[in-house]
Amino acid sequence: MTDKQAEVAARVVVLRRIFAHHPAFLQLEEQFRLLLDRRRAELAAGLITEARGIAVVGASGSGKTTAIARLLSHTPGLVSENQKDSRRDVVSFQVPSPATLKFVGQTALEALGYPLRRNRTEMIIWEMVRHHLQQRKTLFLHLDEAQDLLRYQTPKMLQSVVRTLKSLMQTKEWPVGLILSGMPEVKDLLNHDPQLARRFYPVEFPRLRAGLDGERVIEIVASYADRTSMETGNTVGDDFAARLIRAADGEFGLVIELIIGAIEEALIAGDRRLDRQHFTCAFRRRSGCIDGLNPFLADDFERINVRELLQVETVR
Ligand SMILES: Nc1ncnc2c1ncn2[C@@H]1O[C@H](COP(=O)(O)OP(=O)(O)OP(=O)(O)O)[C@@H](O)[C@H]1O
Ligand SMILES: [Mg+2]
Repeated sequence: MTDKQAEVAARVVVLRRIFAHHPAFLQLEEQFRLLLDRRRAELAAGLITEARGIAVVGASGSGKTTAIARLLSHTPGLVSENQKDSRRDVVSFQVPSPATLKFVGQTALEALGYPLRRNRTEMIIWEMVRHHLQQRKTLFLHLDEAQDLLRYQTPKMLQSVVRTLKSLMQTKEWPVGLILSGMPEVKDLLNHDPQLARRFYPVEFPRLRAGLDGERVIEIVASYADRTSMETGNTVGDDFAARLIRAADGEFGLVIELIIGAIEEALIAGDRRLDRQHFTCAFRRRSGCIDGLNPFLADDFERINVRELLQVETVR
C-alpha cells in the first residue's frame, strides 16, 4: 500500500465509525429506555411482571443491526459486555441457520457465555438458557436476523418457537424482554400468535422517499463531506437526492455506504470537491454495472432495479 492509499483508507475508516442519527433510531431508543426504566423500577420495588418486547423491522441495508449495536453501546449504565461480575443486562446474538429450536437455544447459551460441551435435548438446553438468563440478571435478549426463525419451518416447529419466545417473557422466575430485529417477515412471526403480538412494540425502519427525505439526505451528504474537509459541488439541487435514494433502493444504511464510497472515490482521485461523478463511480464499483443502469447517469433512473444490481437481499 502506498502512503496515499493508506491515508485514504484511514480517512474512510473515520467515516465508517460515524453513527448517523435518524428518526427510527430515536424511536427505538425512546422505546427501549421506557422498557428498561420500567423494568428497573419494578425490580427495585421487588415486583415481577411480564416482560415486553420490541420488534425492529426493516429491509436489508436499512440499518437495523447498526442501530441496535449503537443503542446497546450508548445506553448509560447498561452492562452488555463481560464484566468482572456475571451480570449482563443485555445479551445479543444472531439467529443461526437452520433455526431449529435446539440450535437457537445452543446459540443463546453461547452468547450467555456457556457453550455446550455435551449434546443435550432441546428441553434441557432451554432450561439452561432460562437458568443462565436469571443468573446473569439479563433484562433483554436480542435476536438479530429474527426472520430466520420463521423461514423453512414446519408449522409445528414454528409453534414451538413462538411458545418458547412467549414463555421467556412470561416466566414468573425471571421474565426477559425480547428485541427481535429482522426483515418484515418478523411481523408475520409475531402475528402468528396474538398473545405474542400484543407484547411487542414495533419500530419500523422505513424506506426513504425522494419527496419527503430528499433534503435530509442532502444534509447528510454535506455533513459527511464536511468531516473530510471536502466541499460539496453539484451534489445538491436538481434530482440528485432522488438519484441517491434510488441508488440505495431507499435504504438508509445503503445511502450512507454510497456517500462514503463516493468520498473514497474523490479522495483516491485527489479531488477536494465531492461531485456527482464520484457517486457515479462509487455505484459502478459497487455494482459493476454498465452506465445505462447507473442511477446517477440514466434518464429513467426511477425504473432501475437496484436490488438486483447490488445483490442485496430483496425480501420486504
Ligand atoms: N445510522 C447509521 N450511521 C452510519 N452508517 C450506518 C447507519 N445505519 C447503517 N449504516 C451502514 O449501513 C450498512 C447496513 O447497515 P446494517 O447492516 O445495520 O443493516 P441491516 O438493516 O442490519 O441489514 P440486514 O437486514 O442485511 O442485516 C452498514 O454498512 C452500516 O455501516
Ligand atoms: Mg443486520
